[in-house]
Amino acid sequence: MVDIHCHIIHGVDDGPSTLEESIKMVYKAVELGIKIIVATPHYRYNKTDFFKKVDENLNELRSKVSDLDIKIFRGTEVRIDPSLTEIVKESDELLIENSKSLLVEFPYDRIPFFTKETLYNLQLQGIVPIIAHAERNLALQQNRIALERILSENIPVQVDAGSFTGFNGKNSKKLAMFLLDNNLIDYIASDAHCAEDYDEFYSKAYSIVARSKGQHAANMLFGLNPGSIWD
Ligand SMILES: [Fe+2]
Repeated sequence: MVDIHCHIIHGVDDGPSTLEESIKMVYKAVELGIKIIVATPHYRYNKTDFFKKVDENLNELRSKVSDLDIKIFRGTEVRIDPSLTEIVKESDELLIENSKSLLVEFPYDRIPFFTKETLYNLQLQGIVPIIAHAERNLALQQNRIALERILSENIPVQVDAGSFTGFNGKNSKKLAMFLLDNNLIDYIASDAHCAEDYDEFYSKAYSIVARSKGQHAANMLFGLNPGSIWD
């Protein structure tokens, strides 16, 4: 298992608030068979010491779990914004460590007008934007044309494990299953914010996907595909 979307660094976003909780999450991930985690705290535009704090806390966490069989890479989850192309041009700190991939989220209720252009410009820079939890976006849930447009861009789609179990509501579950049935998902990740999130839905989601598409497909979506972003 390779979890490319996870809020595991303490004190930087709405994930764990203490180092102890972060450590608990790492132990839970190891228990579930996860070998690589990408820590993707919500990037805050205009917060100057964001990366300093993220690095400090991540290094603190890494030092506490260094004896475990798991790697923690740094990434971010970044809200789509017209300034994104420029920010990425100046620094690769937003990207998933050692890769060209960037986890991009949309607002929950719409696809902003600058989305297509922003994603295209990122691609021109050699960046691979990944759409974070596409199934949770209201516009994509309700508007088939919007969904087809986004999917036609050939941009990798990440779906949250919790959406398969109903944790993110019935509309997210419906779209997650539609995307799964039509082979439109590239990665499934936890988007966990606490250790209980892993318990709540990660293994259950794996079972649902394996039952619906077979174990090989589940292994691809939870492990091999996300593991290939470093290729
Ligand atoms: Fe997230």
